[in-house]
Amino acid sequence: MKVPYGGDYNPEQWPEQVWKQDYELFDAARIDTVTLGVFTWAQTQPAPDMYDFTTLDRIVERAAAEGRQICLATGTGALPPWLAKAHPEVNRTDFEGRRHRYGQRHNACPSSPVFRRLSAEMARRVAARYAGNPAVIAWHVGNEYGGACYCDLCAAAFRGWLRARYSTVERLNAAWNTTFWSHTFTDWDEIEPPSALTEHWRGPDHTAFQGITLDYLRFMSDAMLTNFRDEKRAIRESDPHTPVTTNFMGMYRPIDYHRWAPHLDFASWDNYPPDDTSQARMALTHDLMRGLKDGQPFWLMEQTPSYTASRDVNPLKRPGLMRLWSWQAVAHGADAVLFFQMRASRGASEKYHGAVIGHSGRSDTRVFREVAELGAELERVGGVTLGARTPARVALLFDWDSWWALEISDGPSRLVRYQQVVLTYHRALWDAGADVDVVPVTADLSRYDVVIAPALHMVKGDLAERLEQVASRGGSVVTTFLSGRVDEDDNAFLADVPGPLGPLMGIRIDEWDARGPEFVNPVCFDNGPIVDARLLLELVIPQGADVVGTYGEDFYAGTAAVTRNVFGAGYGWYVGAGLDQTGVCWVVRQVLDWHNLSGPYPDVPDLETAVRVTRDGTHLLFLLNHNPEPVEVVARAGGLDLLTGARVHIGQVIRLDARGVMVLRQ
Ligand code: GAL
Repeated sequence: MKVPYGGDYNPEQWPEQVWKQDYELFDAARIDTVTLGVFTWAQTQPAPDMYDFTTLDRIVERAAAEGRQICLATGTGALPPWLAKAHPEVNRTDFEGRRHRYGQRHNACPSSPVFRRLSAEMARRVAARYAGNPAVIAWHVGNEYGGACYCDLCAAAFRGWLRARYSTVERLNAAWNTTFWSHTFTDWDEIEPPSALTEHWRGPDHTAFQGITLDYLRFMSDAMLTNFRDEKRAIRESDPHTPVTTNFMGMYRPIDYHRWAPHLDFASWDNYPPDDTSQARMALTHDLMRGLKDGQPFWLMEQTPSYTASRDVNPLKRPGLMRLWSWQAVAHGADAVLFFQMRASRGASEKYHGAVIGHSGRSDTRVFREVAELGAELERVGGVTLGARTPARVALLFDWDSWWALEISDGPSRLVRYQQVVLTYHRALWDAGADVDVVPVTADLSRYDVVIAPALHMVKGDLAERLEQVASRGGSVVTTFLSGRVDEDDNAFLADVPGPLGPLMGIRIDEWDARGPEFVNPVCFDNGPIVDARLLLELVIPQGADVVGTYGEDFYAGTAAVTRNVFGAGYGWYVGAGLDQTGVCWVVRQVLDWHNLSGPYPDVPDLETAVRVTRDGTHLLFLLNHNPEPVEVVARAGGLDLLTGARVHIGQVIRLDARGVMVLRQ
């Protein structure tokens, strides 16, 4: 047993003579796992009533004969042209109402009965054919579900979804507050998808009715989930056990991965960070993916060994970065390290995308060498990390509904972006070296000492009570501006802001000030720094809470910006302003220090630490040096470095090379 290592492999794109060379190179790089058949539909079903698995058979047989494990795709990530021609309604209709013609990929209307029938049939046939092949270790359904469709089929399906949610038009009218602007619906058929032709006036985030737009986002995510479930069900007809997944895209707004997660057997995601300073962002995304299945390990399904191709500018990963980021994924819970792609396509839009094997097929490139070195390292480490869990005492709440509601809202500010707020708070935790679970608002919070809920715009169900329980038993809850504003239907609470969070936070807010990015109001902390606050400045009125930070300027100078409320044996912290990173780090450090939850090196910049606990209770401490220079620190714990075999003793100075990694078994 070891961490599966390999990735997307599309040998149908080149002659069979090349396959031999591929496998020789895979051997050299210790590639043991290949993801096959992600975009094979046109090949496996070349005509409506013709299925042809000749090529896929050869590919699968060859991989198995070569001793590789296979993550086998159903192949439905792109429509075949004949299908789009024969049934134009399988093509999507965009936000502007334009029915698309054949092209690109991820291009099917999720509500099309023809697409649903034929994609499920493809999954059924693929599974029936290859189930039982011991090389197949996972099924990969579709590819990167996403986007949206606004066609008449989706309109009809949306109405059905609404009926199931609201039962009566009256309830729907109440939820959408339709007496506003004379929108009272009297029949389900009057409801149109919210698009540029209907409720929207400046793109997908500018809507006259938040309720309908929010529900369409929920519906579209559910519609694509139905597509995934269609295929999974079809696979299960012949294979009851092999795990089924689909590759997610991390913090991807259109799909509510929390709603999807229960239907996947394990989570997996594709990591394409925007640049080589994304280490904290990637850590957050890994934590989010691990949180999808209650802390169970996930797969890193794709990453490039070198560069992407789809961006305007596609920077090269510096030496050592691919290894560092692969170990970062493992440190945060990845139980597989896979690339896109094993060999470069010759033509079309990904011909310049990085690959383990380039067009010339050489093994003496830097990239191949680094891939092979990591392969050898993973082989040496073996299976010790597999199944290991993260013992986090800190939870960060992440909520697609809040993300959507905040960003489709007119007012207070279009400049406040959910992801940015979450990133700032996670960054503070990451800087401090705390292990963090990024979890849905429905998660069991009883195992956490600290719960941070940035921009918790929507408060649903019993969340407020569960947060109160965290504080009651001695924990700390932190929330921010724009929290506790709306209920599940995106209607304001008929109460003081922050609505149901008010008692826990011990404050009320009557007014807020939204400003452009150039406007700064300093916030001064008691016994702390003076930091910048921007974008959204809430005038916090303590109702029992202690003032921790005050505004420095304007007519509200001297009034509260940050507060801390004693609640039971714990605290509710409220940060009413868009503090800069220094300010957020200061607040978060107060909270972590109170609970003694910072990592071993909170003051060493860009030295990341993460812990995983193996099934037999062994602690693995990962040290990841994201600096382009070496770092020296004093060992706070002893252990065996699994990468070098060296023993480390407490108090000893340990040196991590530039972009170096250490995995200490304690
Ligand atoms: C992923 C996708 C792959 C490939 C890759 C290129 O998003 O799943 O098929 O296109 O990007 O970076």
